[in-house]
Amino acid sequence: MKYALVTGGSRGIGRAVCTRLAADGYTVIINYVNNEQEAQRTLELVREAGGDGELLRFDVSDAEQTAAAIDRWKDEHKGEYISVLVNNAGIRKDNLLPLMEEADWYRVIGTSLNGFYNVTKQVIQPMIRKKYGRVINMASVSGIIGLPGQTNYSASKGGIIAATKALAKEVAPKRVTVNAIAPGFIKTDMVEGLDEETLVKTIPAGRFGNPEEVAELVAFLASDKAAYITGECIAITGGLN
Ligand code: NAI
Repeated sequence: MKYALVTGGSRGIGRAVCTRLAADGYTVIINYVNNEQEAQRTLELVREAGGDGELLRFDVSDAEQTAAAIDRWKDEHKGEYISVLVNNAGIRKDNLLPLMEEADWYRVIGTSLNGFYNVTKQVIQPMIRKKYGRVINMASVSGIIGLPGQTNYSASKGGIIAATKALAKEVAPKRVTVNAIAPGFIKTDMVEGLDEETLVKTIPAGRFGNPEEVAELVAFLASDKAAYITGECIAITGGLN
C-alpha cells in the first residue's frame, strides 16, 4: 500500500490533492482539524476517484498533538510508511503591519511554518530509512514577491521555501525529494472576500486558478517521474510574479 498524508485535506486545494493522489493509487490520509463532515466528504471523493483513504485529526500547529496522532497511525500500520507528504494546511490573517495583532503574526507562522516542522519531523525519518519519499510544501507567490497586508503570511511562506531548499539537500542522497509549490490566486475559501474583478487584472492569464490545476502539479512532483527535481519552488500563478 502506498500512503500519502495531506494536511488540511478537508477542502480547497487539499481536497483536490487528496482526490488526485487517490486516482494515482495512493491510500490517502486526510488530515483535518475541525470539520469532520467536510473531511468525510473528501474521503467519499477519494473513493469515487478509485482510491481509498482514512481520516487523521490533528492541528498541525500543535507539536504534541501532531506527534501523538502520527505515532498512533504508525502503531496501527506496522510495516507501512507514509511515502508522500503534502504540507498543505495554511491560514491567512491579513493586516497592515502596524495594525497586525501579535496573535495573528504567531497564528499564521504557527500553522504554515511550524506546521511544516511539526509534521515533516514525524514523517521524514521512515522515508530516509526506506530510501524513497516525496515532500511537497504548499508555499505561495506571497512568499516570493511579498504582498502588502501579508507580512505574516509572506514570512511563513518564504520560510517554507527556504526550509524546502535546506531539507532537500539533507535528504537527496536518500532518494527523498522536497519541493515547494507557490500558487497565485486559486479559487478556494481562502480567497473568499477578495476583490476578484480587480485582482484578475493583475494576472496575465486573466483568471484565478482552480484547485485541480494545483493538484496536477502535486501529483507530478509526487510521481517517480519527478525523481530528479528537488529543492525547487514551482510557481503556478497564470503569469503573476
Ligand atoms: P482553505 O482555507 O480552503 O484550506 C486550508 C486548509 O488548511 C483547510 O482544510 C483548513 O482546515 C486547514 N488548516 C488550517 N489550519 C490548520 C491546522 N492548524 N491544522 C490542520 N489543518 C489546518 O485554503 P486553500 O486555498 O485550499 O489553501 C491550501 C494551501 O494553499 C494553504 O497553505 C494556502 O496558504 C496555500 N495557498 C492558497 C492560495 C489560494 O489562492 N487559495 C494561494 C497560495 C497558497
